[in-house]
Amino acid sequence: MNPNLHGSAWSGFYKKTLKERQNQLKIAFPDLFNLPSTATRIVPSVSPVPSVYSTPLTSICNSPISREYSEENDTLNSINNEQFNYLVKKLKSLNIDQEPFPINGLDEQIADKMIENCVGTIGLPIGLALNFIINEKPIIIPMAIEEPSVIAAVSGAAKTISSFKGFTAVAPERNSIIAQVVLLDIPQNSMNPAINKFCDNMVKRGGGVFDMSVRRISRINNRNKKHHPISSENFKELLVVHLHIDVCDAMGANCASAIAEGVAPRLSELTGGRIGLRILSNLSVERMAKASFRIPLSLLHYKSYTGKEVAARIIEAYEWAEVDYYRAITHNKGIMNGIDAVALATGQDWRAIEASSHAWACDGVRGDYSQSNNYRPLTTYWIEKDDQLAACGKEGDDCLMFCGELELPITVGTAGGVINTNPVYLHNMGIMGNPNAKELSMIMVCIGLAQNFASLRALATEGIQHGHMKLHATNIAFAALRCYENETNSSCPSHDITSIARRMIEKGSITLATAKELIEESLPKPQISQCTYM
Ligand code: MEV
Repeated sequence: MNPNLHGSAWSGFYKKTLKERQNQLKIAFPDLFNLPSTATRIVPSVSPVPSVYSTPLTSICNSPISREYSEENDTLNSINNEQFNYLVKKLKSLNIDQEPFPINGLDEQIADKMIENCVGTIGLPIGLALNFIINEKPIIIPMAIEEPSVIAAVSGAAKTISSFKGFTAVAPERNSIIAQVVLLDIPQNSMNPAINKFCDNMVKRGGGVFDMSVRRISRINNRNKKHHPISSENFKELLVVHLHIDVCDAMGANCASAIAEGVAPRLSELTGGRIGLRILSNLSVERMAKASFRIPLSLLHYKSYTGKEVAARIIEAYEWAEVDYYRAITHNKGIMNGIDAVALATGQDWRAIEASSHAWACDGVRGDYSQSNNYRPLTTYWIEKDDQLAACGKEGDDCLMFCGELELPITVGTAGGVINTNPVYLHNMGIMGNPNAKELSMIMVCIGLAQNFASLRALATEGIQHGHMKLHATNIAFAALRCYENETNSSCPSHDITSIARRMIEKGSITLATAKELIEESLPKPQISQCTYM
C-alpha cells in the first residue's frame, strides 16, 4: 500500500485556478469528460475500470472502493507535476479548455420536469475532497456545500489518516429498506392470531420483499391537551407491519411505498384491521455503514501540538459530547457537513439521511436502554495498545494507536431515480468511479468520520475561527463587491476580492462594513452608500 497515492498531481490543487482544476479533472477522467481522441491520446492509455451497472461514465483515476485497485491503471497519480503541466498546456493548445465545463448547475427545462411550480434553479459550489484512501484504494470525493473550510478541513484530516493506512469501511451486502403498513381497530383478543396469519401467508410474497416483521405498539393519548377525539380511539394497540425489501442499488423509497400500498388490502383482510398509513420508514437499520481508522499517536502531531496532545484533546472533546447533548448536536452537525455534501453532489435524499442519522444518535433508537433516552455523538474515539507494536519491542506511547469510528444507517441509491436526470450527478459519480449504493454509503461514512476528526482536531487545538475566517473573509469581500457592482452598474477586477479579504484579516475585522470601507478606499468613485450592509 502506497500512502502517497494522492501525492504528485493532486497536491497544491487548492492553489490552482478554477479553470486549471477543471482541466485537471478532464485529464484525470478523459472518458467522463468526453475528451476527443486527439486529447485522450496525450493521456497515457489505460483501460477504464469496469462499472457494475450500465453507464458510459467511467473513471481511470479512481476505482470503486470495494473493487480491485491497480496502481498501474492510476494515470493521474502516476504522473508527476511536470508531466501534468505539460498535459494542461497541451489541452490549451487543443482549445479543449474553452468548452463549457459540464459540472455546472441544472438545466431549467430538466428542473421544470422534476418538481411542481418550478421557477428556476439554485447553484451550490462543488469541490473535491482529496487525500482519501478507503479500503486501501485512493478516491476523490465531490462535495456540494456552501460553507467555507469544510472541504479544506476534510482533505486535511484525510491526509493525516491516509498517511498511515487510511479508512476501513464496511456495509451490508443487501440494500434493504422497510415499508410500513399500520393496521388499526383490531380488537385486543384477535391481535395474536393476526400476527400468526402474517407469518404464514405473507412471507411467500415475492418481488423485492425478503422478510416481514410485525410490531405491536401501544397507543398513547394525544399529547396536545386541547385535542378533542373525533374518531374511535377505543382500540389500545397498533399493529405495524414491516416489509423488508431488497432494493438493489436504488434508494427504494418509491418501491417501498408502492409495495406497502399494494400489500395493505391483503393485510387488512387477514387481520380485520383498518388500513392506516402505508409508507417507507426512513430508518433503515439493516443498512448500517461503518467507517473506522487507526493511526499511531506519533502521526497525529498537528501545528505546535504533539500527537499525544492532539489525541488526548480529541478524546476530551468527544467525551464532552457524550455527556452533553447540546454539544452532541453540534458534533453531529459537523459529521453531517461531510455526509450531506456528498449526498447533495450525488442527488441523494439528504433529508432522509439527516433524519435517520439523528434518530440513530438516540439511545432508544439504537436499542440501548441502559441510559435514559440520550442524544449522543455518532462517532467514537479511543486509544488502544497495539499488540503487534508491543511485540516488536515498542513501549509506552510508541505502541499506542488512536482510533475513530462512525456507524450510521445510510440509505442511498445509485441507480434510477433523480440521479439520471442531472448530468452533474452522473459526473460526480464518475469521479468516484461509479460506486454502487453500498460503496457510496461507505464513502459517506468515511467522509463523515474525517469531517468530525477535522473539526475536533481544530477545535481542540488552535480553534476553528482562524482558518475559517480566512475563507469567510473571501465570501464577505465577494458579497460587498457584488453590492458595489449592483449599485454602480460596473464590475470590479476579481483580484480585488483577494486583496480586500487579506486587508480585512490584517485589520482583524471581517465584516461587511469593513469590506465596504476597504472597497471605498480602493475604488473611490462612485460611492456605494445606498447599499444595505448587515
Ligand atoms: C461547523 O459547520 C461544524 C462544527 O461546529 C462541528 C463541531 O463543532 O464539531 C465545527
